[in-house]
Amino acid sequence: MARIPLFLLLLWGSYSSSVQDWAAPRYNISLDLPPEQRWKEVISQYNHTFLKESMEFIYTSAVPKWVRALIFPLAEIDLIFLAREPYADEIRGIARTLEIGVGYLLAVNLAYEATAYCTSIIAQDTKGNIYHGRNLDYAMTDVLKNLTVDLDFIQNGKIAYTGTTFLGYVGLWTGQSPYKFTVSGNARERAGLWWENAISAFFKRSSPVSWLIRDALNNAKDFEAAALQLSKTPIIADTYYIMGGTQPREGLVITRNRDGPADLWPLDPQKGEWFHVETNYDHWTTPPPSDDRRTPAIKALNATGQENINAISLYKVLSVKPVLNDLTIYTTTMSAASPEEYSTRIRN
Ligand SMILES: *[C@@H]1O[C@H](CO)[C@@H](O)[C@H](O)[C@H]1NC(C)=O
Ligand SMILES: *[C@@H]1O[C@H](CO)[C@@H](O)[C@H](O)[C@H]1NC(C)=O
Ligand SMILES: *[C@@H]1O[C@H](CO)[C@@H](O)[C@H](O)[C@H]1NC(C)=O
Ligand SMILES: *[C@@H]1O[C@H](CO)[C@@H](O)[C@H](O)[C@H]1NC(C)=O
Repeated sequence: MARIPLFLLLLWGSYSSSVQDWAAPRYNISLDLPPEQRWKEVISQYNHTFLKESMEFIYTSAVPKWVRALIFPLAEIDLIFLAREPYADEIRGIARTLEIGVGYLLAVNLAYEATAYCTSIIAQDTKGNIYHGRNLDYAMTDVLKNLTVDLDFIQNGKIAYTGTTFLGYVGLWTGQSPYKFTVSGNARERAGLWWENAISAFFKRSSPVSWLIRDALNNAKDFEAAALQLSKTPIIADTYYIMGGTQPREGLVITRNRDGPADLWPLDPQKGEWFHVETNYDHWTTPPPSDDRRTPAIKALNATGQENINAISLYKVLSVKPVLNDLTIYTTTMSAASPEEYSTRIRN
């Protein structure tokens, strides 16, 4: 009995709070173009002054002074040496289009890596379909809402992969390789020594967390290959990678240290684990009471039930407070077996 009223309450609550949400604008990025030219057309749709002001805001509020002093001149001279392709040339191309410094834009790109508070959920319904949803929470929400875009990366006239990002940021925290897998990233560590550790790892050629997501979307031939790549490749910061596949039980939360996997947590529907919720804490620990988005998400999923889980009910779970909160910029729902349903809504 207790189940039905709660479910109705959730429905009602999310309905009333999501009235003003809007769909992220969607653009094509052609992978057939040289990296320096890929972003030109999308950027031309936007007010350059607004883009530059947004980046300046992120730069001054999120990049520590010592990093600005260090990376700015270095990257001007030797970006290619520090950053892998195609990211180096894409950053160079965007910087040229906007008439801003390459090192400056690289620093802005790294700043986005620093503090993403998020909720990601993977779930399997009773028929074996896999659903994947995520909220991306971040400071500076007002500016970032206007920079959020869904992108189809096109190769030879077909969608090679799809992802969601902020304009000017070449990495992806959310993406889908059609008929193969979906992936989202959640931050695992707090401010603290983040910049010191990340910059030193970057100088050792470790990948930014979001570039590895894009690499996997671009290269991995299937769910397993992507899981391996996302588990093993050195990255600049501890993180969580959450993956969904196309087959029953293809759902996985990878807890990452910089150098390799700390834990792998697959879905196990036969044991009743038909969903996993990952926020910004190791799943084997208890989240701090001041930031427990996990328990409300689990409650909402329990109330929904495995037989009722789908993209719409998952969106509703991601709309329950405080899973949805003042920092939430967007909600994406996706399912690799039905790639056309990839959908991002900006939360208001
Ligand atoms: C472009 O953005 C700037 C800064 O946000 C604003 O002042 C200007 O009016 C905008 N231009 C147009 C054509 O909308
Ligand atoms: C974002 O875009 C909306 C609609 O175009 C506009 O009203 C709002 O001022 C923009 N916000 C910022 C921070 O630029
Ligand atoms: C994006 O690319 C696809 C595949 O080539 C094409 O069908 C679609 O019309 C393109 N969309 C836009 C907005 O150009
Ligand atoms: C969710 O349901 C499971 C299985 O019935 C139960 O063990 C767990 O305590 C429930 N969690 C919450 C937060 O309601």
